[in-house]
Amino acid sequence: MHYIVTGGAGFIGSHITRTLVERGHEVTVIDNFSSGKRENTRGLLSMGQVTLVEGSITDLDLLKGNFEGVDGVFHEAAIISVPWSVEHPQESAAVNVMGTLNVLVAARDCGVKKVVVASSSAVYGDNPELPKREDMLPEPMSPYALSKMTGEYLGAVFSRSYGLAFVALRYFNVYGPGQDPASAYAAVIPKFITRILNGQVPLVYGDGSQTRDFIYVADVVKANLCAMEKSVEGIFNVASGERTSVNELARLVPELMDVTVRPTYEQPRKGDILHSYADISRMKHELFMPDISLRTGLKETVAWYRNNPG
Ligand SMILES: NC(=O)c1ccc[n+]([C@@H]2O[C@H](COP(=O)([O-])OP(=O)(O)OC[C@H]3O[C@@H](n4cnc5c(N)ncnc54)[C@H](O)[C@@H]3O)[C@@H](O)[C@H]2O)c1
Repeated sequence: MHYIVTGGAGFIGSHITRTLVERGHEVTVIDNFSSGKRENTRGLLSMGQVTLVEGSITDLDLLKGNFEGVDGVFHEAAIISVPWSVEHPQESAAVNVMGTLNVLVAARDCGVKKVVVASSSAVYGDNPELPKREDMLPEPMSPYALSKMTGEYLGAVFSRSYGLAFVALRYFNVYGPGQDPASAYAAVIPKFITRILNGQVPLVYGDGSQTRDFIYVADVVKANLCAMEKSVEGIFNVASGERTSVNELARLVPELMDVTVRPTYEQPRKGDILHSYADISRMKHELFMPDISLRTGLKETVAWYRNNPG
């Protein structure tokens, strides 16, 4: 098969690309390197079956020029920072909404069979009901969340109006090798690990009792491949279905790194939600059963950061 991975130089997109190549598929990566890294693609390009197209999903002609003869699209490209989207709502929508619309239009016009889009648990907002189910009313609290929700609706409309098969995967907190710890908006796991490797203590915002639903990137890749290969459509939570507090993480990460450190506590961050975890029944029944425990995933992730310092 020939697949497109938009955002294939990013954290999740590069893992999807690698697995597709390992399974013998041909892949075209479309990425503008706004947050993606060249080192993520370097190893992939040497594998021979990957073509890199440097450009933006806001360029419809570029997409159409590359979608001809393609079997499916994994759409990962997005500007992923929530705080940035609050500061720059128009730029966020230009990429995350119009870019997604372009991907769908190009797929429709070029006869692509299926598009699998990265959505986000952010669409649930701070509705206190737990666990989060796909049929709950979305309550986006930021331009980023709104852009992800809009992408889901656009895909559903393209499925109904033009028969383009469509899946939206609502990722919860994805972690694993290659995630960028350097950005101001970096996720908690790479931040904890790299701070400890640099001789610093983990920083916890608030009292650490807030919970999240962490899923290892290899399980996210499996969810994407199953979503593409099985005759399913619609929205799926992609998560482990387990809640882990930031305090538990601040204990577990040092333990797995064989160090004894206590975190420093800072003021809670504005807009951070307290608790989030997913009902994963739909994913388990129709896609696959995630099977990498937090402990196993963290060990792999720690090993990667040890081998790839800086
Ligand atoms: N990491 C998570 O925990 C998480 C959670 C929920 C949803 N998501 C979604 O998953 C997807 C992948 O996220 P990630 O964590 O790998 O982030 P990432 O920043 O590593 O990857 C995003 C990629 O998209 C590229 N990109 C951005 N704008 C582009 C444009 N205009 N044209 C082409 N490429 C562009 C970036 O250069 C980057 O390579 C995103 O859609 C994100 O919203 C991620």
